[in-house]
Amino acid sequence: MPLAAMASASSFPSRCHPALAVAAALLCAITGAVSSAAAAGGNGAAGGRGPIATAGKNYTRVCDPARFAALGLDASRFRYCDASLPYAARVRDLVGRMTLEEKVRNLGDQAEGAPRVGLPPYRWWGEALHGVSDVGPGGTWFGDVVPGATSFPLVINAAAALNESLWRAVGGAVSTEIRAMYNLGHAELTYWSPNINVVRDPRWGRASETPGEDPFLVGRYAVNFVRGMQDVGAGAAAAAAADPFARPIKVSSCCKHFAAYDVDAWFKADRLTFDAQVQERDMVETFERPFEMCIRDGDASCVMCSYNRVNGIPACADARLLTETVREQWQLHGYIVSDCDSVRVMVRDARWLNYTGVEATAAAMKAGLDLDCGMFWEGARDFFTTYGVDAVRQGKIKEADVDNALTNVYLTLMRLGFFDGLPEFESLGAGDVCSKAHKELAADAARQGMVLLKNDARRLPLDPTKIKSVSLVGLLEHINATDVMLGDYRGKPCRVVTPYNAIRKMVNATYVHACDNGACDTAEGMGGAARTARIADATIVIAGLNMSVERESNDREDLLLPWNQTGWINAVAEASPYPIVLVIMSAGGVDVSFAQNNPKIGAIVWAGYPGEEGGTAIADVLFGKHNPGGRLPLTWFKNEYVSQIPMTSMALRPDAARGYPGRTYKFYDGPAVLYPFGHGLSYTNFSYASSATTGSTVTIPVGAWEHCRTLTYKSGAAPSPPPACPALDAASQRCGEAVSFAVTVRNTGGVGGGHVVPVYTAPPAEVGDAPRKQLVAFRRVFVPAGAAVEVPFALSVCRDFAIVEETAYTVVPSGASAVIVGDDALALSFAVTINLAV
Ligand SMILES: *[C@@H]1O[C@H](CO)[C@@H](O)[C@H](O)[C@H]1NC(C)=O
Ligand SMILES: *[C@@H]1O[C@H](CO)[C@@H](O)[C@H](O)[C@H]1NC(C)=O
Ligand SMILES: *[C@@H]1O[C@H](CO)[C@@H](O)[C@H](O)[C@H]1NC(C)=O
Ligand SMILES: *[C@@H]1O[C@H](CO)[C@@H](O)[C@H](O)[C@H]1NC(C)=O
Ligand SMILES: *[C@@H]1O[C@H](CO)[C@@H](O)[C@H](O)[C@H]1NC(C)=O
Ligand SMILES: *[C@@H]1O[C@H](CO)[C@@H](O)[C@H](O)[C@H]1NC(C)=O
Ligand SMILES: *[C@@H]1O[C@H](CO)[C@@H](O)[C@H](O)[C@H]1NC(C)=O
Ligand SMILES: *[C@@H]1O[C@H](CO)[C@@H](O)[C@H](O)[C@H]1NC(C)=O
Repeated sequence: MPLAAMASASSFPSRCHPALAVAAALLCAITGAVSSAAAAGGNGAAGGRGPIATAGKNYTRVCDPARFAALGLDASRFRYCDASLPYAARVRDLVGRMTLEEKVRNLGDQAEGAPRVGLPPYRWWGEALHGVSDVGPGGTWFGDVVPGATSFPLVINAAAALNESLWRAVGGAVSTEIRAMYNLGHAELTYWSPNINVVRDPRWGRASETPGEDPFLVGRYAVNFVRGMQDVGAGAAAAAAADPFARPIKVSSCCKHFAAYDVDAWFKADRLTFDAQVQERDMVETFERPFEMCIRDGDASCVMCSYNRVNGIPACADARLLTETVREQWQLHGYIVSDCDSVRVMVRDARWLNYTGVEATAAAMKAGLDLDCGMFWEGARDFFTTYGVDAVRQGKIKEADVDNALTNVYLTLMRLGFFDGLPEFESLGAGDVCSKAHKELAADAARQGMVLLKNDARRLPLDPTKIKSVSLVGLLEHINATDVMLGDYRGKPCRVVTPYNAIRKMVNATYVHACDNGACDTAEGMGGAARTARIADATIVIAGLNMSVERESNDREDLLLPWNQTGWINAVAEASPYPIVLVIMSAGGVDVSFAQNNPKIGAIVWAGYPGEEGGTAIADVLFGKHNPGGRLPLTWFKNEYVSQIPMTSMALRPDAARGYPGRTYKFYDGPAVLYPFGHGLSYTNFSYASSATTGSTVTIPVGAWEHCRTLTYKSGAAPSPPPACPALDAASQRCGEAVSFAVTVRNTGGVGGGHVVPVYTAPPAEVGDAPRKQLVAFRRVFVPAGAAVEVPFALSVCRDFAIVEETAYTVVPSGASAVIVGDDALALSFAVTINLAV
């Protein structure tokens, strides 16, 4: 695989290959020292570059003796540069040397450093949502030797691939490009990605940035992307076992935005003033879950708190969220940063408790915020830097609080090799950015994420040996999508392969009919779209949304196709002698009922915003070079859904009193679903057989009565007599029980293809207010035509059969739960009866 080759080649310069086993660490350390010295001297691969500018030269590590010498200092006299000491001792030494004023100048994203003690400035703000980005005033920039970086598909597309190794590979490629750019003085090492807020409402403008509506899927994306971004070779695991605060990391990755943030700007609701009213059950079950997985399982080194308030308290000043939950319960090894201006927002926008700048600064730092990102509006700086000294002088916080915050941020920089270098990445250079392998990975990611929504009478794939001409109809910005496919938080791409470019490679005669904003000349006549459709063997319409409809600070008001596209798509379909093919670019779901119901629209493909190589992926799917296997990571609702519930209602469960429907596939299965969560067709057919369709019984010995909890039953459905132990508190006792089974996936059609096997559990039928079903596992496999692949699963009873009760306890219900493998189109299920034996 090009991917595996890429990963090992880029992570380890040849002399440092892990196969060299014992000798490797020493040899690589020497190599690192040599190349750093070369950098300091202004020659060598990264010659004189590096992001740390000191006295007219650039360096890649703080503790380079030549750098200290250039400052008139002797590095050997600064214990924080003594690599033989533990990180904690070094950070203590560094912070201990700084005056209060120096300390406070380093609490903002544009940290000034402390030249007196050899500490350089550092720009914390980095974005790498789907590739290295230059958004924000951080230290990442494109130009000269690094004109661009690989732009991967938007996260919602990558999520649709449901392939964990893909997510990790993309994180790995992005962090390789960052380390290469760092060596060249084009990047810093801290990145505020991924965005793992759950898409609770289909109108949310930031769906493109996220892995969708299911907390477990979002969490697994987070774990894999973060591991790809952060993990260093095998040695790091040993370091983690010894001291997780000293585990080396390649690039720092950040789970954002914590918590219950998913309203941007919807009518009068605005994220800066929005106070999310959230029940504790929803907090545990939906809003916190991906963050818990990102920290516990991904060991992310950063969490960003959000602008909004949660039940009255600003997320960035909530000690229960930041300190008790993130730092103590989930054991964050890293730093907590504010979303940019969150502390100012408390004062200026939310006017929270009429706090002054000093009071807001003190409240946020005491709650557990370590670093304040500020936007530099109106000439002001971030609040921590502006008000930190006064907050200490007025006794609102202690200097020890400031030391604690700085300790968290400098430990992170130590782990990144900012002080000492990280030898295994020092040979990366310009050739590792936009490499052939990375562009191929971007194309592969886009292909894997393509979702076939409709395919009547096998309209797709188009046969390139029979189709001699195609008519391409749509807005120019979708056909020639040099911009739309890159979505938000983009950098500068290596290149862009548009649908037009890629389809032209498949079929020579490509007629383009470009529609204007709002209208498409569908009339007969030389230039009309109808005529264009008639003279071609196939008509492909590319339609959808762009960032003026769905984006950060811009939620949607409806789910319809904008700019009158529906009208002219129907007109083109009517004029075409063959059923047309419709390709949709969007992040959120679009109500394309009109197309689903129109027999003259034969096939619909959801292409998302597929990144710089997106055109190739679209053409490969349309012409059968790739058999689509992606699945929708969120429900596509009909437009009527959004008139039934305001976006600002946070509850996931239906609210009969207010007539609100439930949210996401877990709580809504009414008539307003156009395509369900997990929907996705293939050019072949699959069948399932399972090793465990007959059901099984699991008995869990419950240690003591106090581990039992009440269970909510549907009205009239409570078992009689009531069970001795209705439900087990999943957190209160160890529980190693597992349910293992295997599913045999057989490809019964004529073409090989990727297939995602989703596994859901559903609680016993008598349990009330529970999810209909919940995703607990998934695997993507490739199955050649006519072949079968066995896919094993092992579900943990206390994790995968657990539900969150109204009390917010996570419990395992007694009774017959169901395991459901697959989706509406193809599924098998069996019961697992859980006995709680007291
Ligand atoms: C140091 O880096 C800056 C910014 O990247 C660049 O403008 C400058 O030319 C570099 N200096 C040297 C000596 O390479
Ligand atoms: C904030 O100040 C305004 C105006 O002085 C006052 O009406 C309001 O009650 C104060 N709010 C709080 C929470 O103290
Ligand atoms: C699409 O872009 C290509 C260049 O990328 C250009 O040659 C072509 O004319 C554009 N198509 C239309 C219809 O403008
Ligand atoms: C397109 O036309 C060129 C030149 O006529 C020919 O060499 C090529 O094979 C054609 N490509 C396809 C996909 O038909
Ligand atoms: C989105 O598309 C519309 C219609 O073509 C266009 O007017 C608008 O400028 C586009 N906006 C962005 C941000 O691309
Ligand atoms: C929308 O498209 C239809 C069909 O092409 C056309 O009849 C109608 O006038 C268009 N409406 C607007 C507002 O452009
Ligand atoms: C899948 O099976 C159905 C029913 O047997 C059949 O009609 C259809 O053509 C098959 N589709 C493919 C892609 O093989
Ligand atoms: C999952 O993604 C990886 C990395 O791109 C790829 O090698 C693998 O083939 C994919 N798996 C399937 C089943 O498509």
